[in-house]
Formats: sequence, structure tokens, C-alpha cells
Amino acid sequence: MTVIPKSLIKKHYLKYHKPQNFIPGVTPVKVSGRVFDQKEIEKAVEASLEFWLTEGHFAEEFCKKFSKFLGVKYTTLVNSGSSANLAAFSALTSIKLGKRRIMPGDEVITVACSFPTTINPIIQFGAVPVFVDIDAASRNAVPKLIEKAVSKKTKVIMMAHTLGNPFDMKEVQKVAKKYNLWIIEDCCDALGSKYLGEYVGSFGDLATFSFYPAHQITMGEGGAVVTNNPDLYVIVNSFCEWGRDCWCRTGQDNRCGRRFGYKLGKLPYGYDHKYTYSHIGYNLKSTDIAAAIGIAQLEKLPVFIKTRRKNFDYLYKNLKKYEKFFILPAWDKKTEPCWFGFMLVVKKTAPFSRLDIVNFLQDNKIETRSLFAGNLLRHPAYLNIKHRVVTDLKNSDLIMNNGFWIGVYPGNDKAKLRYVVSKFEEFFKKYSN
Ligand SMILES: Cc1ncc(COP(=O)(O)O)c(C=O)c1O
Repeated sequence: MTVIPKSLIKKHYLKYHKPQNFIPGVTPVKVSGRVFDQKEIEKAVEASLEFWLTEGHFAEEFCKKFSKFLGVKYTTLVNSGSSANLAAFSALTSIKLGKRRIMPGDEVITVACSFPTTINPIIQFGAVPVFVDIDAASRNAVPKLIEKAVSKKTKVIMMAHTLGNPFDMKEVQKVAKKYNLWIIEDCCDALGSKYLGEYVGSFGDLATFSFYPAHQITMGEGGAVVTNNPDLYVIVNSFCEWGRDCWCRTGQDNRCGRRFGYKLGKLPYGYDHKYTYSHIGYNLKSTDIAAAIGIAQLEKLPVFIKTRRKNFDYLYKNLKKYEKFFILPAWDKKTEPCWFGFMLVVKKTAPFSRLDIVNFLQDNKIETRSLFAGNLLRHPAYLNIKHRVVTDLKNSDLIMNNGFWIGVYPGNDKAKLRYVVSKFEEFFKKYSN
């Protein structure tokens, strides 16, 4: 096979992609982005020249390495974090799960201050999201509200570790055990975060990840569903692959040895298992080129995690003095978050508004973001959805009105973070007396 010399790829990388020197006030300080070098391009080129295109040996290698990293048994690669949530939720609607399957009208405990596609599969299936409020500092579900949200119809707890901060897993596991509920951990923003020394994603029945460029690793578009449950693994794959009953990998035939030996549904005996459908499925699969890039990114993951933590710590240390004005991030002692961003919530008593500081930062080329939807129920698409709210969503509204976050991703080096801190100092000069 043709090989493109690595030296040529490196030359290309250095000419077109090498990070530029930081010019304060000119170079944007971004919230997130791709962090890569020639290794990712080498892998992409290798997979492109092989031209297998769909999932092949690179996808298999990525899944093996990802499972090993997290300490889980199975990984299914998909084309986005949203697809991962769709596949994970859909899996729990499978007829193969008998009485425990989610049925339309069943309830799912979640939070409204989140990303839309954590909730959308629930609504699309005809199940009912039950929203609990979040804690203003941890930005995660208030633990004591989780059990309060349980009803006779509850089947699942499905929520994200907000901005990489693990939710109260002990409480979630306790409630799930007591009421026989499934747990789906949305870890899209939390790859590398730990709870009691174990990676998040290894606690729930299912967990999901995103590899969009904003996340801890990227393959452009991409995602994964992980589980330790072999039955759920097969069901997830079925939903990702058109709903078929067969579990052959791409390009494989007759893995079960009975391709023409089944009698399923009302099909004739021996109907091709490859084309037998046990679920109303989708095609959510990824490509080998994306997976190849993911393999190179996984190599860098330990450094990415360290850098995100270091950047967060630096901002926390230097912005803590403004605690009078902001609700700072808080995390449990049992956790080691791999932060997605550094979030600040302007206190109601502050003499400035969220827009005042966000505009000031923007004018100084420092990017900010909202905590995704803020309160999802206030968006046009969600005004008329069937749902239940436990007590109220006061803090979700507070985060929507007063919260914003800035970047801790590894593309932000010390010079950029120092500049960020200096701009906060400048902003607060007028409030120092
Ligand atoms: C918590 C959460 N879940 C799901 C997603 C969706 O991931 P993707 O953009 O890969 O579809 C995101 C995206 O950022 C997210 O933050």
C-alpha cells in the first residue's frame, strides 16, 4: 500500500496547523477546540489510504482501547454524543428486556439545565422527563430531590455529569437500587472525570460520550456508548445498525454460525439473519477515518486530563477573590473532575450583570458560553412537552440568567490564562472599594 512519508505530514502540520503565538487582545482565548499534531493527521491519512471507509480495524482498536481506559467491558462507536444518547435510551426500550423495558408514558428522572439531546430521546419515544432542580454551585441535580422524583412510572435516571463535574453517584445508585431503575450516565463532557477513584461511565448500566471538537478528545464528529452488560451491548449495537438481530461486525458474515438457521417473527425458517430486524433501529455508525483519529487522541488523553485540571485550578485560585460577586464551582471530595469549562454564576447581589461581564470579556477576545440550554423548558421547542417538575427549577433559571463559562481546554496555555485573569482584574478595578 502507498505510504505518505511522515516527514511530509509533519511539514504540512507545521505549515498549516501549528498553534500560533498568542497576542493578547488579538488572538481569541477560546472555550474549546481541537488539540492535535501530526500524529492525528498521520492516522487519518493511513485510514484514508486504506479506504475501508466504514467501521473496520481502526474502529475495533479504538473500542478496545477506550474500554480498557475506562475499565468497562464494551464500547460501541457512534457518530456523535447525541447518537450515543439516542442509542443508549433506545436500548432500554427493547422488547428483549421484558418488564423492565421503558414503555411510552414511563418516566425518566433528569435535569432541565442540560444539553437538549440528553432529553430528546425521552420525548421522541413518548416517555416523560421528570425534571429536578440543580445545585447552583455543583450545577448537578440536588441529590435529595432525586428520590422525591420517583413515581410508580419511573424507569430510568438519565443525566449528565455537568461540565465534567460528577453528579452524586452514591445517591443515584442508592435510589436506582431501591426502585429498580436503570442509570444512563451522560459523560459527554466528563471523559476522564473520576468518582471514588473510578472513571465516570463505569457506574451506570449505560454511559455515553461525545468526540465533537469541544470535548476531551475529538474525531470531528463521534461518540460512544459503553456498558458492562453483554445483553445491553448487543441491543445497543442493534439500534445503531438498522435494528437488526444479527451481531456481525461490518464486513463479517455468520458470526453466530446460524445465519440461515433461525425462525424469528413470522419469517420463514432460515431467513437471512443479517436482514432480520428485532428493533425499530437507526444507522448511527461512525467511520474508520474518525476512529483512526480517535486512536491518536486517546494517546494524548492522560495529558489532556492533567492540563484541564491544572487550568481549572489556576483559574479557581486566581478568581476565588471575587467570590463576593460569583457563585464559584463546587465539587464533592469523592470526585476528581476533568473539567469541561470554568463556570461562574453572577450573584443576584452583584453590582453588574452577566451581560456586563460577558460583553467585557468578549470585547477583549475572551470567549464565553452559557451552560447549554440553561433551562430547557423555556425554549420554543419544549414549551408544550409532556413533563413533570419536582418542586421548582429556580436554580436552573438562575444559571440560565446569570451563568457563563470560560475555557480550560488544553489549547489554553499559561499565557492565555494569565491574560484572562488580568482582564478580570481590570473589570473589577471599579468595584474594589
Ligand atoms: C452533556 C452533553 N450531552 C450530549 C451532547 C451531544 O454531543 P454531540 O455534539 O457529539 O452530539 C453534548 C454536546 O456537547 C453534551 O454537552
